[in-house]
This record gives sequence, structure tokens and C-alpha cells, in this order.
Amino acid sequence: MKICVVGTGYVGLVGAAIFSDWGNPVIGVDKDENKIGRIKAGEMPIYEPGLSEIVLKNIKEGSLSFTTSLAEGVKESEVVFICVGTPQSESGAADLSAVWSVAKEIAQNMNGYKVIVIKSTVPVGTNERVKKIIQENLSGNCDFDVASNPEFLREGCSVEDMRNPDRNVIGSDSPKALSILRSLYEHLGKPIVECDLRSAEMIKYASNAFLATKITFVNEMAQVCERAGADISVVSKGMGLDRRIGHYFLNAGIGYGGSCFPKDVAALYKTSSDQDYDFNLVRGVMNVNKSQKEYFLQKVFRYYGKNLSNKRFAVLGLAFKNDTDDIRESVAIEIVKYLRGAGALLSVYDPQAMYNSKQILGDNGIKYCLDKYETLEGSDALFILTEWKEFASLDLEKVKLTLREPVIFDGRNLLDWRKVESLGFTYFAVGKRTNGVEKIERKDVYSTAILKNENNHH
Ligand code: UGA
Repeated sequence: MKICVVGTGYVGLVGAAIFSDWGNPVIGVDKDENKIGRIKAGEMPIYEPGLSEIVLKNIKEGSLSFTTSLAEGVKESEVVFICVGTPQSESGAADLSAVWSVAKEIAQNMNGYKVIVIKSTVPVGTNERVKKIIQENLSGNCDFDVASNPEFLREGCSVEDMRNPDRNVIGSDSPKALSILRSLYEHLGKPIVECDLRSAEMIKYASNAFLATKITFVNEMAQVCERAGADISVVSKGMGLDRRIGHYFLNAGIGYGGSCFPKDVAALYKTSSDQDYDFNLVRGVMNVNKSQKEYFLQKVFRYYGKNLSNKRFAVLGLAFKNDTDDIRESVAIEIVKYLRGAGALLSVYDPQAMYNSKQILGDNGIKYCLDKYETLEGSDALFILTEWKEFASLDLEKVKLTLREPVIFDGRNLLDWRKVESLGFTYFAVGKRTNGVEKIERKDVYSTAILKNENNHH
């Protein structure tokens, strides 16, 4: 099956690579010349384990090529995947301008029957509008069908996710398009959900919003556990063993981030309000996610006071999650900005996201370190903000020796609190009543008492 993939972001580049690896001739298209040049030279614009090997192998074997010419890609193919970005606009809705302009250009370059497939995450009704745009701009008398084929891959394991999906979803009102796309995926032996366009579009938003809700539920449970003296990690484990709940996405932390969940949850809320429905639960999820990082920061301020100008902190983790260099909507980056805003100096390290972080944070007040232990030198406390595996196996004796004070704020519950506390650290986690929490509570009680005393004297 001759395939054209428009857009070489996470979804497009991984899609093009894997489709060609399955034996289909694929042309990847992107209007960004620099990006295309880099990919052709084997330099991936994103960090994704296993991706560059697959791209290089298939380029070499001649089944994968890249171009900046959409016309060339469209003319050569029978299936065209639209994988361009749909960022969040001011209103919370998805900005679909890139989808519209690609649809128009595809229409102008049609030279025979084609299936136009939208893989980008798009709100309900978008595929129908794409169909209309193509009809209105069609060159000549070509027949075509539109299909929705949302992508569920996770950054950091997208190659594996695409090769081994839980399901593929194909929406179309054309049996011919459904059958063409079925033949692309059926060799995987995984469930294929065939449905109408609108349901396919909705499955993607429903899935992302549900996962974000799952994380948010655990984050709120964490608040209750911390106050009530329970341990959220144990509670999550106990819940997750119930097959109806499942243990995925039950890790409490500083809130979800990334280029998908925040934008997709907001877009679903916008879709529901456009349909005159106030999606209460989703609204709650957005609000709780925002307060989750604020609550984490409150602990810092309750411990040190509001002014952090005489502090230096070691920060491990800047990416929005582990195994990626992506810092879009990264809660770690937001926390770094808050700490710097309160006057703290920061020594930061992330295994992959240093370059991207530097572009956003600049040099002011930030020292970019070469490895995790270097961040500790001259620092008053350690912050763990991204769930990289390598941070879970820190040599804690070394950490204690290097830090100026043995204090850890663990925003991802990566460390074992018993071990950390037994080594003499003051430890803060999420959803656990650790010795750090007890210290700030004592301090709060003490300062309230002083305040009361002062008031009595006046
Ligand atoms: C998410 C979905 O998981 C994919 O299925 C979907 O295809 C993708 O969005 C998309 O729409 O393109 P991704 O954004 O790569 O994938 O990242 P996730 O692994 O879902 O993590 C999202 C955020 O949730 C991260 O900030 C992560 O740290 C946080 N998280 C995740 C938690 O705080 N706790 C958890 O238990 C799991």
C-alpha cells in the first residue's frame, strides 16, 4: 500500500517509520526543510528509543523517503495520513488551521482515488469538515474517502506502542476506506474498532481524558492519604490489583503535563460546552491538576518561608515525563520557574531534556549540570521532578554527603521513604505522611502559637 504521511512530529515520524517497516512504500512530508534534511541524514528531531534505527534501515532499503513537497507525496500515494499538530488555542479548543491547509493542498494535488486519513487528535466533526474542504478544492474529478484513525502512542515508547497496540480505531462512512485501512493493521492480530467518523474522533478524547482523570483521582487521594496518615503508593497498589481498575496511571505526582493531556482535556471540555453540556468531572480534573503542583510548592514555602533568595536547589528531571526530551507543558519546568521566581538558584539535570530546557529557561539563575550528582554540589535540598528510572536508584549516602542539608522533595514518589528517613533525610513526597510533613506541621503550629501570643500582648 503506497502511503504518504504529512507531518513529521511524534505521530507522523513514528507512523511513517513503522508503516514502511511493515513493508509499505512510504513518503514522509514536512514543510520544514531543516527537519527533513536532518531526518534524511539520520538525525532524529525527537528523542524516541529505537526510532532512528528503523528510519535509517528503511531509508536504506528504499521503502521510506522524505520530501518537503506535499504534491509529490500525494501524487505517489493511495493513502494519505494527516499527522500535523493541533495545538491548544486561546479558547481551549484545538487550533485546526494546519489540518485545514493540508486538506486543501491535498485536494489540489489529487490524481486518482485516495483515502485521506486523519491521525492528528481532532475534535468531533473535523473529519466531516475535511471532507467538505477536499470536495470544494478538488482538482479534476477524483474520487476520495475520508477516515479517522486516532493514535494512542505514548512518547518514550511510541515505537513499541505502534507495533503492539491495544487496539486500532478506524472511523469512516466508506466500506472501501475501512477495508483499505483494515488491511494495513489486521496483520497485527489486535482488535480493530470500525465505526463512524464522529465516534472515532471521540474515542481519542475520551481515552485521554479518562487517563487524565485516573491520574487526577490518585492525586486527590494522595492529598487525603497525606493528611490521614495513609501511603498513596500502597493504596494505588492495592487498588490496581483489581483487574477492573488496573495498575496503570495510578502514580501520584506533581500533576500530568505534556503536549496531549492538558490540551485534549481542555478541548473535550470545550466540545462539551459547545454542545451545551457542562462536563463537571472534566472541569474538576483541570482544576485539580493545576492545584497539585501548587500544593507541592506550598510544602517548600512552608518549610523555608516565602523568600528563597539564599537557597540553591538541585533539580533532577525537567522533561514532562521519563524517556523523552519533550518539555511541552512540563510541570517540572513550571516548578523550576516558581522556585527561581522566589529567588532560589538552581542546579538542574535531565538525561535528555537539557537542550530543550535551556531554550525555555535560559541561563538566569540556572546551572546546567552534566550528571545527577553534580547538581547536589552546594545545594540546600534535592528536588525530583520527573520519573526517570535512574533517579530511583540514586546513591543516597552520596547524596547526603554532597548536599549542604539532607532535604529531599520527591515530586514523583521515586524513593523509599523508610530508607530515606532512616538515613537522616528530611523527606517530602506526595501522599505520604513523611517526617518532612510532620516538621512543617509542627512549625505551622509553632508559628500560629507565636502569632497568638503576640496578638495577646498587643
Ligand atoms: C498520552 C497518552 O498516554 C497516549 O495514549 C496518547 O496517544 C498521547 O497522550 C497523545 O494523545 O498523543 P503522553 O502524553 O506521551 O501520552 O504521556 P503519558 O505517558 O500519558 O503521560 C502524561 C503525563 O501524565 C505525564 O506528565 C506523566 O508524568 C503523567 N503521569 C502518568 C502521572 O503523573 N502519573 C501516572 O501514573 C501516569
